[in-house]
Amino acid sequence: MRVGLACLALLLVAGCGVASTPPAEPPAGTPAAAPGSGDGGYAHSPPPHQESRPEAGPRDIRCARIRCVALTFDDGPGSYTPRVLDLLARHRARATFFLVGEMIDKTDWPVLRRMAAEGHELGNHTWDHHDLTSLGDAALRREIVRTQRLVREVTGVRMRGMRPPYGATDGRVAREARRLGLGQVLWAIDTLDWRDRVPKLVVRRSTAAKPGEIVLMHDIHKTTVDALPRLLDVFDKKGFTYVTVSELFGDLKPGKRYSERKPRTEGKRDSRR
Ligand code: NI
Repeated sequence: MRVGLACLALLLVAGCGVASTPPAEPPAGTPAAAPGSGDGGYAHSPPPHQESRPEAGPRDIRCARIRCVALTFDDGPGSYTPRVLDLLARHRARATFFLVGEMIDKTDWPVLRRMAAEGHELGNHTWDHHDLTSLGDAALRREIVRTQRLVREVTGVRMRGMRPPYGATDGRVAREARRLGLGQVLWAIDTLDWRDRVPKLVVRRSTAAKPGEIVLMHDIHKTTVDALPRLLDVFDKKGFTYVTVSELFGDLKPGKRYSERKPRTEGKRDSRR
């Protein structure tokens, strides 16, 4: 009922997100109310975890001058993802989650909304984790667009970055990413956490990251989540700031590949460091 009244009031001003109308474009990376398409007004309720969550607004972080690291988590959401969010919140750490469309059940919707609300970046990791270079043009495009649409529907976020599964990309993938307005986000540090299910190794490999690097992990493995408390302690001690990939580069240019921010080419003012 509350929703109905709110809609009625908004309708006079803005049309109030009729289910068949696409939502207005939110600014990069900012969550917006999800379309009110039959989910009982959830989008209008206060989000959970409100008391403990860090501020989620956009930040102007000078990664050319401070030690930034972009932690990224692929292939979820999964059953451990809420725990990952809890641990990140404890360290006021922002990260980027590259989501696989077919992994997103309705029960994951609150988790995705929480990611957005807590300042994390949501990224596109295709619909079903296909090697995009092996697909025809139409299938390739569908792999990306389906996930892009679902996440937009659920969270209101228009994702700015995509990560090709297996890091497999070529000219066609780049062209499609460019057409869809998505940067291609690869990585500098591969923790190989999917292969070596040993928390100690995940800690050691991830914390070898140098400032400006993107670290690849997977939030679907328990061993990776078990590594997180120690991993975050080590990065904290080294004085790192945890940023999203868009924060690391300022913005993502459609089609361009990213794996690290190179201090020499992008941070002339670094000479005093
Ligand atoms: Ni993957």
